[in-house]
Amino acid sequence: MQNILVTGGCGFVGANFIRYLLEKSNFKGRIINVDKLTYAGNLENLDCMETAFPGRYRFVQADICDPKAMADIFQEFSIDTVCHFAAESHVDRSIFEPGGFIRTNIMGTFNLLELARIHKDRLHLFHHVSTDEVFGSLGGEGYFTEATPYDPSSPYSASKAASDHLVRAYGRTYGIPTTISNCSNNYGPYQFPEKLIPLMVLNALEGKQLPVYGDGANIRDWLYVEDHCRAVWKIMQKGTRGETYNIGGRCELPNIEVVRMICDLADDQAPDHNIESRRNLISFVKDRPGHDRRYAIDFSKLEKEMQWTPKESFQTGLKKTLNWYMDHRGWVERVKSGQYRTWIDKQYKRR
Ligand code: NAD
Ligand code: DAU
Repeated sequence: MQNILVTGGCGFVGANFIRYLLEKSNFKGRIINVDKLTYAGNLENLDCMETAFPGRYRFVQADICDPKAMADIFQEFSIDTVCHFAAESHVDRSIFEPGGFIRTNIMGTFNLLELARIHKDRLHLFHHVSTDEVFGSLGGEGYFTEATPYDPSSPYSASKAASDHLVRAYGRTYGIPTTISNCSNNYGPYQFPEKLIPLMVLNALEGKQLPVYGDGANIRDWLYVEDHCRAVWKIMQKGTRGETYNIGGRCELPNIEVVRMICDLADDQAPDHNIESRRNLISFVKDRPGHDRRYAIDFSKLEKEMQWTPKESFQTGLKKTLNWYMDHRGWVERVKSGQYRTWIDKQYKRR
């Protein structure tokens, strides 16, 4: 793995992954980060990497759906490994504007797989970063394993499911060396503030309403983003080609509990005389259509085969995250100046 193409490296998980690889891992080669810079992609997330790691990091602005641009990149940089993060990633947006999800998540992945097929002889690995949402919703019991049948509920998760199937099919049909990871909900630095945790953190700090969908009892399995990045890198190095690996946090929490924890943490870290308790800002709003009730991941395969477990606890990870957003007000202002939440908020009016 000398020349890794990372797609979507200016987004939340991709930027953390590139930082992890260059700053903390044993990787010695070169990263070519290809990102279209949609509203979710921010060059600032990888500020100074080209100078900090001369010759080892390159950014190229391109759309993974553009066959010519991507073919040129494969050729010019002698790509031998792909780690594919680029996607439209927000479930609410997929509900109101699904077209972009079909295009990037399905057609974009197809385009990359075609290039992997052309360059199969020098390709070490095509790693596809996916989500636990492909499995649909759990009831009160049980966990998603790698053998759980796919049953996606949203246009986002359906498009990710389609891309997973394409990756597996290209592995079986054309002999492309592939691995897939299906991960649960991430949180941490650089997450665009439309997702639950950064949205609630910023609204709590600013004394704004905290819109909880439905009854707030939906459960997610939370994982600190650096733990996800460490898992992806382990799978890329040690994973069996053709296999899929689940990644999770062993940290199931109902949304309302997460929001209350954020309120209490904000009260503690950023006391505000005008707000008696941030919990008073919580407001239950209309539910997300097709809202999956519970996600919980069984990652024993990864644990047994690669000795991976999450390192960060939710309490410490959440505190680090809140402090990061408090220390990066400029970043927040700049990302919020683009397409922010307002049009989503209009769909989920107060109940
Ligand atoms: P994100 O929305 O923060 O970032 C996506 C990045 O992809 C952005 O930088 C964007 O500019 C880029 N991009 C979008 N369309 C593109 C295109 N056509 N061509 C090139 N670049 C394009 O998403 P994220 O949360 O960082 O998620 C990254 C990947 O990880 C996704 O594939 C997602 O399905 C997966 N994942 C995320 C989570 C999570 O909790 N965030 C959990 C499991 C899996
Ligand atoms: O499970 C992995 C997935 O996690 C990733 O594949 C997705 O890319 C990522 O966006 C995330 O999807 P979710 O839909 O689970 O994340 P989100 O942060 O949008 O919502 C988390 C939960 O919080 C969900 O049950 C909906 C709820 N929610 C969300 C928002 C934005 C609210 O109650 N209020 C909100 O304002």
